[in-house]
Amino acid sequence: MDDFISLEHMVKVYPPRVLAVDNVSVGFQKGEIHSIVGENGAGKSTLMKLLYGLVPFDSGVVKINGAAVHFRKPGDAIAMGIGMVHQEIELISQYTVWENVVLGAEPVRGGIGGTLDSARAIELVRRKIDEFQFNLDPSAQVERISVAALQKVEILKLLYRNVSVLILDEPTSVLTPQEIPQLFAELKRLRDKGTTILFISHRLDEVLELSDRITVMRRGKKIATVAASETDKEALAEMMIGRQVIFTSKRTPHPRGDRVFEAKGLSVTRHDGLKLLDNVSFSVHAGEIVGIAGVEGNGQFELVNSVMGLAAPTSGSITVNGGEITKLSILERRKLISFVPQDRGKMGASLPASILDNAIMTHHRLEPRFSAWRGLVLNYRNARAFTDTLAKRFSVQMASRQSPFRSLSGGNQQKLILGREFLLSTPFFLMDQPTRGLDVGSIEYVHGEILSMREANRAVLLISADLEELFLIADRILVMHRGRIVADLVAEQTNIEEVGRYMLEGKITA
Ligand SMILES: Nc1ncnc2c1ncn2[C@@H]1O[C@H](COP(=O)(O)OP(=O)(O)OP(=O)(O)O)[C@@H](O)[C@H]1O
Ligand SMILES: [Mg+2]
Repeated sequence: MDDFISLEHMVKVYPPRVLAVDNVSVGFQKGEIHSIVGENGAGKSTLMKLLYGLVPFDSGVVKINGAAVHFRKPGDAIAMGIGMVHQEIELISQYTVWENVVLGAEPVRGGIGGTLDSARAIELVRRKIDEFQFNLDPSAQVERISVAALQKVEILKLLYRNVSVLILDEPTSVLTPQEIPQLFAELKRLRDKGTTILFISHRLDEVLELSDRITVMRRGKKIATVAASETDKEALAEMMIGRQVIFTSKRTPHPRGDRVFEAKGLSVTRHDGLKLLDNVSFSVHAGEIVGIAGVEGNGQFELVNSVMGLAAPTSGSITVNGGEITKLSILERRKLISFVPQDRGKMGASLPASILDNAIMTHHRLEPRFSAWRGLVLNYRNARAFTDTLAKRFSVQMASRQSPFRSLSGGNQQKLILGREFLLSTPFFLMDQPTRGLDVGSIEYVHGEILSMREANRAVLLISADLEELFLIADRILVMHRGRIVADLVAEQTNIEEVGRYMLEGKITA
């Protein structure tokens, strides 16, 4: 079969000299789901941005149905039927679903310059929703709907513009395990109607389940394109990173020490009386990894905010090493708590600041080696050395220390934050979805680092939507449901099915 879209000898160099895409040729067929996999920084997002006209390329040719095309901006690509959904959702929260969908392509009454025909717009959006069985309310306010629904609105926006090629960059990383099957069913229906879907994900099980074909990239180059039915997880991982990856636990028994962290009767009550966090009590000991499982939105956010001092709990206490922390400032808490936030772009880092500034953030306020002139200026020599050590140890690929943090690929941003927090000397470590967006090799490395913190007798609280991750490294698994801790289980004495049932129902029903 002839390729519907072909990319020929594509090259992209980001200034000054990051060779992000290195002579890649690949073809996509009509009505196939084609996944792109590869390590963090391999060039997956960049390759798709080249196709989409979002980033200009240095050389190469894009062909549709055999004819060369030249996209200067995403609008050109959309006009040719190619749409892309980015990882960061860009909807207008005050608008309704239908308003967001038609925005910029509204049906009007009375010809050009006429008024918005809202009745017709709603009808058109409703028809698209029905056609693709999307299960969305066109009149819902966007700020009130779930992340999964937001993503559907983004996809719907493109379908409304009649795209026949849909590019999705890590769409599942923000979804809960329960939401993924529905998205996949929708994508498969789209494929069966002839849409080409280009899909980027680090979750190899998902990629294998969803795709017809898979292209593997490594360091800007294409390694291979294979049929999903003719490969497996191990083979993909090896092609991606050039060595074998072990997908089983390396956890060995380790005695737990004294209690380090304790939450007692922690509650957060919303203004209308709803308990977002309901009388939560638990502790984490030195040398112990406690995992928190639960569908997102069941109190994890309020728990993290209470611990980090981002919002005060309505009642209850939190102690670290026996000292109450609820009244401490954020900086004082940071002397005791290393923290990897879920939203790394907003809370964990400053996107426009340099990589160096982000690497030493918090360290520079707690460690004298980073200040000179009695703390008035930064000791740049030590800051540079620290950034280099961190980047080397956590294999953060960067053009230069002075490049803006946002120029790092998604996974490299996460590795930098993780490394910075690992290197703080704190007794307690709070991690919220730490491996989201990381490639399999990096996840293996991060798990190894977390286990070595356990060996070093630090106390770890790990919030993760990824149950496999919890079973790989956690000693105990707590399940949160509607603001409460409904189960406290020893990892070795439970299983994914049991935890899954607590997550959904809050209790075990026979
Ligand atoms: N705007 C930019 N300026 C400079 N370098 C960039 C820019 N965007 C990406 N890069 C670099 O280009 C390389 C490829 O990045 P890209 O985002 O395409 O990787 P990726 O495969 O999508 O990785 P991830 O899985 O981490 O998202 C990386 O080394 C990255 O740091
Ligand atoms: Mg990417």
